[in-house]
Amino acid sequence: MPISLRTQVGIVGAGPAGLVLSHLLYLHGIDSIVVENRSRQYVEERVRAGVLEQGTVDLLVEMGVGERMKREGLVHYGIELRFAGHGHRIDFQELTGGKGITIYAQHEVLKDLNNARAATGGQVFFEVEDVSVHDFDGARPKIRYKKDGNACELTCDFIAGCDGFHGICRPSIPSGVLTEYERQYPFGWLGILAEAPPSSAELVYTHHDRGFALLSMRTPQISRLYLQCDPDEDIDRWPDERIWQELHVRLASDGWKLTEGQILQKGITGMRSFVVEPMQYGRLFLAGDSAHIVPPTGAKGLNLAVADVRILARALNQYHTTGGRDPLDRYSETCLRRVWKVQRFSWWMTSMLHRFPDENPFDQRRQLAELDYVTSSRAAATTLAENYVGLPME
Ligand code: APR
Ligand code: PHB
Repeated sequence: MPISLRTQVGIVGAGPAGLVLSHLLYLHGIDSIVVENRSRQYVEERVRAGVLEQGTVDLLVEMGVGERMKREGLVHYGIELRFAGHGHRIDFQELTGGKGITIYAQHEVLKDLNNARAATGGQVFFEVEDVSVHDFDGARPKIRYKKDGNACELTCDFIAGCDGFHGICRPSIPSGVLTEYERQYPFGWLGILAEAPPSSAELVYTHHDRGFALLSMRTPQISRLYLQCDPDEDIDRWPDERIWQELHVRLASDGWKLTEGQILQKGITGMRSFVVEPMQYGRLFLAGDSAHIVPPTGAKGLNLAVADVRILARALNQYHTTGGRDPLDRYSETCLRRVWKVQRFSWWMTSMLHRFPDENPFDQRRQLAELDYVTSSRAAATTLAENYVGLPME
């Protein structure tokens, strides 16, 4: 007989979506149990992005998990767009009425959330195996999994599928229910983490004939840099000196100097845009990467996951306090309005800043004209700024 447990909301996945949801529900007095197949250490060391929108920062502070972020995060009020060897600053503060972004690594956010869950008696089960979800088209959905070799069955009122793009929740929804929208990009990003003081005070997005490049950072000692590469590029063909050489060439601008340092970590990621509709079926609700993927150019993945679970937590709270199902029934519709706007922005940044293998000279000139327009028109710069700092939360 499996070990049986009971909770109000069963959450699959302890990434940003799952942990933010679990803590938001706790603050609403709603029980939840999170099951995660990786170890806590793995989740807290997994290098991912690190740009937090104003709305995400405000929510983490509201939830009481923002203290270290406030202390260690780097607040920026602009980015630089660099093309044709020159840099152009987009002033978020001036164009959005004072909004900015915070550079604070995703895995640091997860550490803070795990500490908050542990400090408030939260149940996050790491290193579970064989997770599966059942009966979510009925009144008593179940999550089955193995923990320490023991079969377990968690009965809940609702299941939140926060298990990322490669998780089991989305594929568990019967075929024919979901519609998938996808766009693969014909390039990837080679990313490095380097022990080098960031060579710029703010992020630098660069368009270059040899391909896109991005200068980002983690701390005053640690830089994070990316290069556009082939989607199936072999990392072994990129020794450290070749990476630095290519970064020097692509980021070159007006006597600006790139400071090198020891490369601590490097890897290649593919790029796609993906959305599934609807984001719910019965009592199973998808949030974050399990429902949508954005290319990293707009730094939106984590922020979109947080926006989803903020809507889900409110809807679950409404249901538990009043029995009202309307916000729950409109969860998918509510999320997708913002998801598609953020998809548009991420696609636009990607299209404006990357070299496409099949592009013709007309496209090259059009890209440069777009960059020239965005950096010389207040209206166009404002569009970029308001999307980058984060569109209003629904
Ligand atoms: N069972 C249990 N846990 C699972 C399973 C499974 N079958 N499959 C995946 N998981 C876990 C993963 O190990 C991961 O910790 O679900 C979690 C999903 O987390 P993320 O992939 O981080 O997705 P999400 O929480 O939606 O956050 C999206 O994360 O990956 C970044 O760029 C992405 O910034 C975006 C953000
Ligand atoms: C990062 O710091 O990892 C980062 C920043 C901006 C992006 C993507 C990634 O657009």
